[in-house]
Amino acid sequence: MADPVADSLLEWRKHFPALESCVHLISHSLGCVPAKAKDDLGEFIELWSTKSITAWSDWLPEVNHAAARIEKILSAPAGTVIMHQNVSTVMAVLASCFDYTGGRNKIVYEALQFPTVSYVWQAEERRGAKCQLVPSKDGIRIDVDAMCDAIDETTLAVPMSHVIFSSAYIQDAKKICSKARSVGAHVILDCYQSVGTLPLDVVDLGVSFACGGSVKYLCGGPGAAWLYVRPDLTGQFAPRVTGWFGNEAPFAFTMPEQSYADNVWRYMGGTPAIAALYQSRAGQSIIAEIGVRKIRDKSLVMTDQVIQWVDELGMTLNSPRLAHERGGSVVFDFVGAADVCRELNRRKFFCDHRPGVGIRIAPHFYTKAEEIDLFFAELKKIRSGAGR
Ligand SMILES: Cc1ncc(COP(=O)(O)O)c(C=O)c1O
Repeated sequence: MADPVADSLLEWRKHFPALESCVHLISHSLGCVPAKAKDDLGEFIELWSTKSITAWSDWLPEVNHAAARIEKILSAPAGTVIMHQNVSTVMAVLASCFDYTGGRNKIVYEALQFPTVSYVWQAEERRGAKCQLVPSKDGIRIDVDAMCDAIDETTLAVPMSHVIFSSAYIQDAKKICSKARSVGAHVILDCYQSVGTLPLDVVDLGVSFACGGSVKYLCGGPGAAWLYVRPDLTGQFAPRVTGWFGNEAPFAFTMPEQSYADNVWRYMGGTPAIAALYQSRAGQSIIAEIGVRKIRDKSLVMTDQVIQWVDELGMTLNSPRLAHERGGSVVFDFVGAADVCRELNRRKFFCDHRPGVGIRIAPHFYTKAEEIDLFFAELKKIRSGAGR
């Protein structure tokens, strides 16, 4: 179906040997493991075993090293990113910065939000927040004007997904940020489904905060999530969800109250998950080295190829057709899709399924065009009952 185009990004496949024993179309959920991640984790263990407690002098700087890699990918200024374990924790830290007295208590986000984020903000209703969810008319998109209309002078925060996890629809974050700023509200942009596949410039977008993780397109595995804070906001908040690494002098062990760091570390909690930072190093570095613009260009060609297959096989497309509205994955449905997904995974054609929308797949910079054809050939076989 697709031309096996000469594709310079395929050079990077040699860093991902796991790709040779499967068809890996699951980077929107779990990026492929780089071979070097094993060496990097080995380095962490080696330090632990040879240096014991003194390993911390090597380990702790890894937080800033990981943050610097993320800053590069986000086009963020130095010193604006701190590492965390997951997006839920980041959202909880940010929620704990706010209070809902004084007439500003509205939290606006899309109804197609990733559930974990919604759970955090719904819980804030117990403290006086009022969440307003902007509905989707088609289950794929969220009308940008409806988002902007929901944001008014009573809005405190807009914790929104940059790319909707269940459809890959790209929200117009810049327009929404501009509306939010005009009324004094803060956009918290969850970039989990965009980082590493869509070029990002958090300064140009005008977000107050951005967050995401490294599990997906960054090929960094779990535990290396991150938070960007707009530099002029850093000192404005005192998160109630805090810990000793958010202190101005953690090793002074001052009591009893928190005395916050005057830099982005004030958004930290307890002991950082150092192993995850080692593990995430290779993937983040590779993405930064390739440059996300090139990854996006290739992704658009490949997701087009996926859509051609979806059309040819008469399946329902649950992602935007228009390139500028479409992130890195494609979602499609048909009767029995959940079972077919399970069987595809058993056969090592890796993908996932989300209730109500169907199978999600994402090519990445390391994907060969022919792997997409192989995937749909296998899917056809399973649907017709062959090869079981
Ligand atoms: C948009 C989005 N946000 C957040 C998450 C995950 O959040 P957490 O890091 O808390 O597991 C995901 C997927 O895992 C996601 O797609």
